[in-house]
Amino acid sequence: MKTTLILTLALWAATHAPAAWSKDDPAAGAKLYASNCTACHGADRAGMPGAFPALTDIGKRMTPVQIKEKISKGGGLMPPFSHLSQQEIDDISSYLAK
Ligand code: HEC
Repeated sequence: MKTTLILTLALWAATHAPAAWSKDDPAAGAKLYASNCTACHGADRAGMPGAFPALTDIGKRMTPVQIKEKISKGGGLMPPFSHLSQQEIDDISSYLAK
């Protein structure tokens, strides 16, 4: 019984601790942005007027929570990025809001 408990705790720590302890990483977010978002929002984040909104001043228009929700759920013509992990979404949002 005791072994099971220790194993369970070790597994919990291994799966939960990194997400809880690691910080948002704007540099990782920039890479994720480059591979997931540039097609529509552009490498310079200028978007395409009339089709894709610019994200250059997004930190002034949206809260980090709203940005993260937009990435994970999409909306309008923006596809949901449900395959990204919470950490990845946090990283992208810290890159954008920087
Ligand atoms: C297929 C094209 C496409 C891709 C790829 C895409 N977006 Fe979007 N995005 C859009 C469109 C279109 C909108 C406007 C949606 C609307 O009308 O609400 C939008 C809106 C947004 C908004 C809200 C902007 C605002 O002014 O309301 C954010 C933030 C955003 N996208 C971030 C991202 C991020 C981060 C990625 C990469 C993970 C990404 N988008 C990838 C098309 C895209």
